[in-house]
Amino acid sequence: MVFGDLRGWIDALRAAGELHEIDAEVHWDRELGTITRKVFGRGDGPALLFNNITDHQDTVCRRLFTGGLSSYRRLAMMLGLPKDTPVGELVKKTRAVFAERLPPKVVATGPVKENIITGADIDLHQFPAPRWHARDGGRYINTYAGCVTRDPETGIHNVGIYRGLIGQKNTIPVLLFRPQHWGQHFTKYERMGTNMPIAYVYGWEPSLGFCAGGALPGGVCEYDVMGAIRGAPVELVKCETSDILVPASAEIVIEGFISSDPATFEPEGPFGEFTGYFGGERAKRHSTRVTCITHRNDPIMRGTLEGAYPGHINENAIMSSVQRAAIAWNVLDRAGVPGVTDVHCPPIHMGVVLMIQIEQSYRGQAKQAAMAIWGSGAAHNRYKHIWVVDRDIDIRDYSAIDWAYAFRVNAAEGDILTVPGTFGVPIDPSTRLPDRDALQFGTGKWCRVLIDATVNFDYRREEAFGGERYPPSVKPPAEDLERVERRWHELGFEDR
Ligand SMILES: Cc1cc2nc3c(=O)[nH]c(=O)nc-3n(C[C@H](O)[C@H](O)[C@H](O)COP(=O)(O)O)c2cc1C
Repeated sequence: MVFGDLRGWIDALRAAGELHEIDAEVHWDRELGTITRKVFGRGDGPALLFNNITDHQDTVCRRLFTGGLSSYRRLAMMLGLPKDTPVGELVKKTRAVFAERLPPKVVATGPVKENIITGADIDLHQFPAPRWHARDGGRYINTYAGCVTRDPETGIHNVGIYRGLIGQKNTIPVLLFRPQHWGQHFTKYERMGTNMPIAYVYGWEPSLGFCAGGALPGGVCEYDVMGAIRGAPVELVKCETSDILVPASAEIVIEGFISSDPATFEPEGPFGEFTGYFGGERAKRHSTRVTCITHRNDPIMRGTLEGAYPGHINENAIMSSVQRAAIAWNVLDRAGVPGVTDVHCPPIHMGVVLMIQIEQSYRGQAKQAAMAIWGSGAAHNRYKHIWVVDRDIDIRDYSAIDWAYAFRVNAAEGDILTVPGTFGVPIDPSTRLPDRDALQFGTGKWCRVLIDATVNFDYRREEAFGGERYPPSVKPPAEDLERVERRWHELGFEDR
């Protein structure tokens, strides 16, 4: 689906009854975030366009859009599918488009160049960045920005979503984890002794956030995948102060450089994180020195509310549950793990727990699957705990998972595997604070756990079990069920 830009996407949402516009004045300080929290609900609320934000009625940017992908219905719209497409089908479609590439096209100029701000005129306070949550350490302008960097060796662009707040009027301090692709780029620039050019892109078609927020394989350019999702090349223009390429019809682009010199570090954090807790405690961190802002006339800011907790599903949770399952399934495929029949990430933890369903044909298959996932770059922020179950277990039914956990897991037989000391997201509070200092260690420290809830292929086939490894199930045979169903009314029961 080609929407053209953020405005085209907003028009499509309006026409589909998926947008709620708020013209009443709303304060950027906590009120906007709290409204968003209530509207996101359990992942069933509309997208939101705030048209009247306190202190921003007369600034360069007056409006903010959020929640474009905070429901499965809208995620289906982005993929060009019917709004009621089941989640499992969204995962399969995402697997397919994440494996396709349609390279971008560079154009001379575009609407994002309608206004160009440089030098002393740069003032980030002209943009309505909310303090989303009560204890956020500032106004987080980067919650859904596509952060574009370029690998200095290969020249390949990367687009990721990484948090950042307004520091001074021309700085954006950030939280930079080294295993993330911008972190890998930064390490290369650092070794070359140069600052890293970066561009933050706010507001474009929905495929931007969907691709930027998911761990596509290293060396894959998100612009190529966005092109595949929309079925047309993304049109890009060159930044004013670097060679970075950005979508020509983006709402706002903030250009800058990040230095490794500690003298340039600025206070950042904490922020209401995807874990549902405040994370990344306040500390001096890398900061972006802004060199230019380009924007459309009357631009629309894009942001999102990060934290989720039981009963409160957010945009990242909806996106992750589809995108992280698709990514994991593709990792398993690329690694050659056979027999994978389904992969699921429940939205609440955004893929920190992964469910894999397999058709086993040999011993050790569950461990092979878990190792393949944990050995991939996609595992940095996700997949801390992995369940593997057999094909008869519906991975979208927690009672089925629980039953398999009860009767197919025996820790004494090696069904629970722990792998301590691996890389992992540094804002997970279940890791002690000193162990997840990203400046010291580059990232956090996760003990990964596999729960292998499959029937153990180390067990012998038993005659007593009809030649199987496990006894027969109590589930009535089909002929017994049919006989009873034929007599159902005679027995005095209603249809069911
Ligand atoms: C709304 C949202 C906010 C995110 N915030 C961060 C963040 O602050 N830091 C981070 O490292 N990853 C964050 N992520 C996850 C990354 O965007 C994700 O891991 C992605 O794979 C990064 O791109 P990369 O794989 O090209 O490095 C966020 C994702 C979303 C959807």
